[in-house]
Amino acid sequence: MRYVAWWVMVMGLALAGCRVEPSSVQAIASRTYGPALYVERCELCHGAQGEGMGKVGNAIGNQEFLATASDEFLETAIAQGRPGTTMVPWAENGLNTYQIRSLVRFMRTWQTAPSVGLDHTQVAQGDRARGEGLYAQHCASCHGPQGDPGRDPTLVGNHLSNPVFLAQASDGFLIYATANGRTGTTMQAFSQAKGGPLDDQQIEDIVTYIRSLQK
Ligand code: HEC
Ligand code: HEC
Repeated sequence: MRYVAWWVMVMGLALAGCRVEPSSVQAIASRTYGPALYVERCELCHGAQGEGMGKVGNAIGNQEFLATASDEFLETAIAQGRPGTTMVPWAENGLNTYQIRSLVRFMRTWQTAPSVGLDHTQVAQGDRARGEGLYAQHCASCHGPQGDPGRDPTLVGNHLSNPVFLAQASDGFLIYATANGRTGTTMQAFSQAKGGPLDDQQIEDIVTYIRSLQK
């Protein structure tokens, strides 16, 4: 029953996410509540300014991340968490929608770079097998085999094959993150345009492979 309820919620949020414009999330949020709530529930793992604590919590205040993650992306990430990691579903751990939206509003105060208009309808046109080889060569050392670093402290990347993450992250989001990296973290920019080792086709190959891990 709990499982069914969870799926109803997931589908509901997915549908709501299609219709709600970013600004409307913040319209139903408190400006003053977020900061205190963040200190109480989040700072321990993500740092005072969202600067991250490595494996303990990633850099959610990172500019490339905030510029590409919509309010809905952040809201869902907080509400549903990342199953199998220490990021719990906060909707089931004492936070209501109002509180979660207040946290999103607070996180936005860290953002200094303008949001990037990603094409969320873009579908990576890559070769899965080639992508798997490239992933093993360039990504697995941090993100783990099949996109799952598990609890291994030497695998510092996040859980890319996480079902909640992949349900939220479009191919456009994954391509952008891989190409541009996350400044100030160990996630480097991989596109040749940014001095990295991969061309556009190779990045699409890898994203096609990551998408194939979605259950
Ligand atoms: C016990 C540690 C811990 C706490 C407390 C915690 N998080 Fe997280 N959070 C994580 C980890 C670890 C991840 C990354 C999981 C992964 O993908 O491997 C994460 C992921 C996230 C993400 C998604 C980031 C991305 O790049 O996709 C957001 C947003 C987030 N947390 C916000 C919050 C907020 C807001 C709070 C407070 C309500 C919070 N977290 C509390 C550990 C924590
Ligand atoms: C040296 C370690 C390392 C390597 C190698 C690496 N990453 Fe990352 N990656 C990270 C870390 C750490 C993060 C989280 C950064 C942060 O705190 O925001 C990340 C974040 C990401 C994200 C964003 C996830 C999210 O939740 O927002 C994607 C997508 C990603 N990496 C894809 C890749 C791909 C594809 C490759 C190979 C081409 C790769 N990474 C190689 C360490 C690495």
